Order: sequence, then structure tokens, then C-alpha cells
Amino acid sequence: MLKKLLATCLCLGSLMTTSAVMAADSDTAAPIIIRFSHVVASETPKGQGALLFQKLVSERLAGKVRVEVYPNSSLFGDADELKALQDNQVQMLAPSMAKFSTLAPALQVYDLPFLFDDQAAVERFQRRPQGRALLESLRPHHMVGLAYWHNGMKELSAIRPLRMPADAQGLNFRIQPSEVLEAQFKAINASSTKLPFAQLRTALQSGSVQGAENPWSNIQSQKLDEVQPYITESNHGLLDYVLVTNPDFWYSIPHGVRSELEAIVDEVTYAVNLEANRINAEARQRIASGGKTQIISLSKSEHEAWRAAMQPVWKQYEGQIGKAVLEAAVRAND
Ligand code: LMR
Repeated sequence: MLKKLLATCLCLGSLMTTSAVMAADSDTAAPIIIRFSHVVASETPKGQGALLFQKLVSERLAGKVRVEVYPNSSLFGDADELKALQDNQVQMLAPSMAKFSTLAPALQVYDLPFLFDDQAAVERFQRRPQGRALLESLRPHHMVGLAYWHNGMKELSAIRPLRMPADAQGLNFRIQPSEVLEAQFKAINASSTKLPFAQLRTALQSGSVQGAENPWSNIQSQKLDEVQPYITESNHGLLDYVLVTNPDFWYSIPHGVRSELEAIVDEVTYAVNLEANRINAEARQRIASGGKTQIISLSKSEHEAWRAAMQPVWKQYEGQIGKAVLEAAVRAND
């Protein structure tokens, strides 16, 4: 009987939940471990957010909770991290919106090209009921959306200068796993290949893809400027994240400890979203002074040409995203 019980407990998820409860029962119990896995470098907004979360938890919940941060896909990569979270092998992630495309199609709104005018519009949308509801939409998929974290606007990069949409014709772009992004490149007569973030640089270097779309912080930290001779400052789309956890794990944490963790999440979210613009501006500056790539600024009419070419994608995905969500996102620009 005892053997049978032990065998049952050997499931990792149960172990994590058990440890959370034990930590509540005794001061001498082992701390609750939160493994925070992500795919980017530590100097990016998300990387910095994970480290700040770890720091504040170690200061305020010492002995009760310990955060282990695994950057650069060192524990799980984009292809397996969501399943690992659902199985409680990892307790915190901050995947980009595109990674939820098939689970929660309404989140595809964030990947529509030229939808949000700026980060302030994104924040307004996220604070309003439609934006809050999108976080809730992850619950049926065994995930709790704790917060939205920002990175920044995406820029196009390629092996040739992209001034007008026609310049991208025939190029193959690396994309995140998203049909919206596939349609976006189709709209400019380019093709695309879905690849995990960890394979991005190698794919560009080998020439298997010839272009990409990333915010400055990811371009700089992955040294993509060394393998992409041109970067067009297109600001055509957004790279934003949802900080997620596993509900079985999260709600097994004793109430007082969880409240402190929630307060820390709020504080870190504020800091990440405040710093994201600065981190991206600094990354842009470093790329510009590195001189390894040419940064192309678009005139107003060139920018409008990209918008006109890509915007039809909205209509294509309105059904999956929901008209009300799309309209609320557009209204957030006012
Ligand atoms: C990507 O795959 O390009 C991004 O989602 C990576 C990230 O997490 O910033």
C-alpha cells in the first residue's frame, strides 16, 4: 500500500503541489520552488523581469519561496514550454502572444500588423474589459494569465533593403508559430517559415531564411545585426507577452505567500513595462553605433504603403479573433 502511495506521489506535478502545502505547514519545510523558463537573453525586458522577480522574492519571501530563472531556452524552448507548464514541470513562463495562437485564438489580435499605434494604446486596451478577458481566456487551457509584459514594436530585417512592400517579394521570413504572421508575409508576396526562437540566428546565418521580424532588444541580444545587413524601422507589429502560471501549483500556495507573490508580480510588471521602451531604445543605439547593419528609416508614404499592404489581414482573422475584440483594440488608439 505504502509503495503504491509513493509511486503515485512520484508524479512531478503532485510533488510540487505537495511542497507548496508543506511549506505552509512548517517553518522548517523546504521552500516552494518556482522555475521561471524563457527563451530570450537576460538583458531583454522579459529577461530583466524574470531576474527582478527572482530578486524581490528572495528579499521578501526568503526561506519560503525560491525562484530559479532559466533564460535562452536552457530549460524549455518555445515548442515545449507550454506543455511543460500545463504538466507543472515549470511554474512560470512569459511566452509571446503568437505562442498561444492555437489555444486562445482571440490573442491573435496582438499579432495583427499595424493595429496598435503605440505602447500606450496597447496598455489602454489591456486595462479595459476586453483586454482583461483575454487573460482569462487561458483558464480553460490550464493556465493562469497573471499579467501582460511588454517587449516592443517589431522591425523587419533582411538580406536586402526593404523600403517598399515589393522589396520583400520572394524572401522567406522566420516567423513565430502564428497563422496571422504567415498571412502578413503572404500579403506582401513573401513566404515564411515557423521556427523556434532558439533557431532564429542559425537559420538566418545559414540562409535558410533571409529575413525576420523582431524588436530591437531581441535583434541586439541575439546579434542578428551581424547576419542581417538591413533593418527597416517598420514598427509594423507588436511583441508582447503573457506571464503565465499553472493553476494547480498557484492555488496550492498558502494564501499569505500567494498574496505576497501577487504583489511582487504587480511591482515587476510595472517595472518591465516602464523599462521596455528604454531597453529597446538602447539596443537600437548599440546596433546603430556597431555599424554592422544599415538601419532604414521609412518616410510617411513608405510606412503607409506597408500598412496598406498588410492591413487586409485584419479582415481575414476577424472571425477567429472576434469583432468585439478587434473593435476594442482599434478604439484603444483614440
Ligand atoms: C520570438 O519567438 O521571436 C519571440 O517570441 C521571442 C521572445 O520571447 O521574445
